[in-house]
Amino acid sequence: MSSLNSMIDVELRNIQKRFQQNVVVKDFSLQVERGEFVSFLGPSGCGKTTTLNMIAGFLEPDEGDLFIKGKRMNGVPPYKRELGMVFQTYSLFPHMTVAENVAYGLKLRKVGRAEIEERVKRVLDLVKLPHVRDRYPKQLSGGQRQRIAIARALVIEPSLLLLDEPLSNLDAKLREELRDELKRLHQEIGVTTIFVTHDQEEALSLSDRIVVLNHGCVEQIGTPTEIYNQPASEFVHTFIGKTNKLSGRVTAVAAGRVTVETDGGLTVEAGEQRQPFVAGQRVHVFIRPEKIRLTDAGRTPNGGSGQLVMASFLGAFTECEVRVGDHLLSVKVQMVDSTLNLNPGQTVGCSWNSDDVLIMPAARDAG
Ligand SMILES: Nc1ncnc2c1ncn2[C@@H]1O[C@H](COP(=O)(O)OP(=O)(O)OP(=O)(O)O)[C@@H](O)[C@H]1O
Ligand SMILES: [Mg+2]
Repeated sequence: MSSLNSMIDVELRNIQKRFQQNVVVKDFSLQVERGEFVSFLGPSGCGKTTTLNMIAGFLEPDEGDLFIKGKRMNGVPPYKRELGMVFQTYSLFPHMTVAENVAYGLKLRKVGRAEIEERVKRVLDLVKLPHVRDRYPKQLSGGQRQRIAIARALVIEPSLLLLDEPLSNLDAKLREELRDELKRLHQEIGVTTIFVTHDQEEALSLSDRIVVLNHGCVEQIGTPTEIYNQPASEFVHTFIGKTNKLSGRVTAVAAGRVTVETDGGLTVEAGEQRQPFVAGQRVHVFIRPEKIRLTDAGRTPNGGSGQLVMASFLGAFTECEVRVGDHLLSVKVQMVDSTLNLNPGQTVGCSWNSDDVLIMPAARDAG
């Protein structure tokens, strides 16, 4: 991400925030480059909104420094930070029309009437809603309101766009549509964006980089593929998608390979891991459902055979459960060999690549 002539638009240096005696953001450091799309991802209450509000200036950090475009912003009020924000509960003014809502920030900035007219039109075109300009918020659908809230943030041409769960409260299909629209908007105008979400799919599909937060702590900062394929912790791995978790003990470590004997009677070979392991150590083994292949029964090199307990066809893929040893494995199958019947009760083989096996120490508490 970093190159010599890159510009840092936002920098958090060891930011901390307390409410009464509770520390809700701990030692948060991050650099966001110009034009970058960065997501804050984490469960409810982990400190996403609090951090965003500190960047916007609605809250002050108790410790640490905040910079926007190289200028220290501690103590600088929100309206002097030149940023556009979409709040978690979108807050359109109910007594104003769409056009008036969008124009509001420009009026505050004493922009002339003709220019306001022109910019409101342009931004409503951008979110593909020119036809609702004279309606009131209550005459819009939830998704349209979200898009107007985004238009209102964009119209001031902010150098920084802060979005707090702008796609929540929408049904699945609309969420996906708006997600694609946000992606297109970002590609078109290239504004530096910080996007808050608790939805891993949203974060994976939109972001240049993701910051995974847990209890106010940064668990990992990385690109979507790094977060998905090389999680820094058990928390990151389990939060980012469905997975199979098997307990066991390391029986051998050699040449970058770790062998684990699971409590359920499976021998699992794992490829190189981010951290060292020793023989005898208690561990958890993780394998994602989509990394497991179903084959005809018979011994598979890395895996085992078992009984198909359930198979449900979901269109794009089939979700299966297979009892292997004492484990019930979730398997997500996209293409099934035509010779393989997915009938419950049938014996099938499960196998996976050792590189798709993640091992984490069992003793360490993820919280
Ligand atoms: N004004 C406040 N006073 C006291 N505690 C607060 C205040 N605002 C937030 N908190 C607490 O700080 C923690 C972080 O809150 P925050 O709103 O940042 O979470 P979040 O990650 O945005 O969660 P969500 O996904 O539910 O929006 C929570 O435990 C919350 O209860
Ligand atoms: Mg929040």
